[in-house]
This record gives sequence, C-alpha cells and structure tokens, in this order.
Amino acid sequence: MKPSSRLLAHANASEVRSGRKELPTVSFVGQKGGVGKSTLARLFAVGAAHRGLKPILADFDLEQLTCVEWNAIRLQNSVEPDIDVRAFKSLKKLRKNEDRAGIVVVDTRGLADELTLDIAEESDVVFLPTGVSGYDLRPTLALARKLAKQGAEGRIVVELSKIGRSDAQLQKAMETIEASGFEQLAEHWPQRDGFQADLDSGRAGRESRNPYLRETAEKMETALFARLESARPR
Ligand SMILES: Nc1ncnc2c1ncn2[C@@H]1O[C@H](COP(=O)(O)OP(=O)(O)OP(=O)(O)O)[C@@H](O)[C@H]1O
Ligand SMILES: [Mg+2]
Repeated sequence: MKPSSRLLAHANASEVRSGRKELPTVSFVGQKGGVGKSTLARLFAVGAAHRGLKPILADFDLEQLTCVEWNAIRLQNSVEPDIDVRAFKSLKKLRKNEDRAGIVVVDTRGLADELTLDIAEESDVVFLPTGVSGYDLRPTLALARKLAKQGAEGRIVVELSKIGRSDAQLQKAMETIEASGFEQLAEHWPQRDGFQADLDSGRAGRESRNPYLRETAEKMETALFARLESARPR
C-alpha cells in the first residue's frame, strides 16, 4: 500500500524543521492497563517503517519501557527494518529529537495523566484501545470525554482490543461506544495467543510468522493508517 503524499512529504527528513507541530503524530492512550496500547503502537510503527515513513516510536511508559525493551530484542534477533524507538519523559524532549523522523508514534502509560492530555492535544489521531467489558469501557469513555473537553474532539478513536469470541459481547460494546457519540474503529483487534510470541521475538503486526495472524494484523494496520489519512489538519 502506498502512503499518501502528505505522509510521504513528512518522511523526507529535510522537510522537517525541528520543533514544528505538523509532523504526523498518532498516540495510543488509555485509562486502563493491558488493553493493547503498546502492542498497537508497535504494530503501527512497524507499518510506518515498511511504508518508508521513518517512524519514531516514543515510549512514555518509563516504568515498563515495553517498546524500548521490545526493540532491544528486535535488534538482538536482527529483525528488519530498524525502528527508532526511544524513551521520553516529556513532549518537549520528543519534539527536540524528532527532526529526522517522518512520523511520530506515541505509546503511553496505562494511566492517563497531564502528559496524556498534552500528548492527545498534539496528536492527529488519538487511539483509545479498550476491552469490551463495562469495566474497560466506562473508564475509556470517561477519558474520551475528558480529552474531548480539552480540545481533542474529532481526533479521538475508540478501538475494541483483545476481543474474545463472543459476538454478543462485541455487539454490546459497539453499541455502548455508539451511544457515547465517540468514533470507533471499524476494525477490531482479536485476542490471539500467537501475537505474544511474535512480540517476544521482537516482531509486531504484519511481521507475524503465522499467515493468519499476519493477515489479521495487516487489516488492523490498514484501518489505523486509513484513519490517520482522513485526519483533519491540526
Ligand atoms: N491481540 C492480542 N492477543 C493476545 N495477546 C495480546 C494481544 N494484544 C496484546 N496482547 C498481550 O496483552 C498484554 C498487554 O498488551 P499491551 O502491553 O499492548 O497493553 P498496554 O495497554 O500497553 O498495557 P500497559 O497499560 O500495561 O502498558 C501483552 O502481554 C501483549 O502481548
Ligand atoms: Mg503499554
């Protein structure tokens, strides 16, 4: 798949002036832990790298450093392409260091704080992965409302993640999001054990060694990129 000219333009590092705000930025945020933020951030970064978009995967979860650790394993296992994965404590530091990147992919902690709000404010699309249960959906939608109030309205996309085999549960979750008025991604991220083995070997998303999982990941990647492509300019 070809990236749009807007994304490609940013992939040209010479066009990126340090500190400017237009570098495409997507973030994965949430109020709940373990819902797939880091997994989808890695899937997205891998998709961007394969599209020649020079991603920087910014890991703001300094306690877990999931993406940084994953990249170390990736390097140990010589998985290509190389991805620039770095830990950041502040947005300011990220903005100072992104000048050679074409796109910024942000992974955040499993607890929304002031930094999460700032990251959302500077993102073209803010993905909120969530499980299907009410215990996941309620805090996710509460956070979505908070982000919307802070000015991220129209850029928030709720995404049903790690979904099980129950169609009824999925349907109910979709209706709950619909009733909230927030946008939801049409593609869902299914729970499949094989994704964990891939992540443990430094792969993500389309790099899965299992053809079925690869296809599943590619569909998710396509949906996430399509949403970024349709984002309104900030
Ligand atoms: N589709 C999937 N199927 C099975 N396991 C998955 C899937 N997606 C993610 N996982 C696993 O679920 C766990 C949590 O995922 P992940 O680390 O992406 O969540 P997170 O939202 O970043 O969590 P945290 O809030 O702790 O940072 C990980 O062990 C990951 O490998
Ligand atoms: Mg995480």
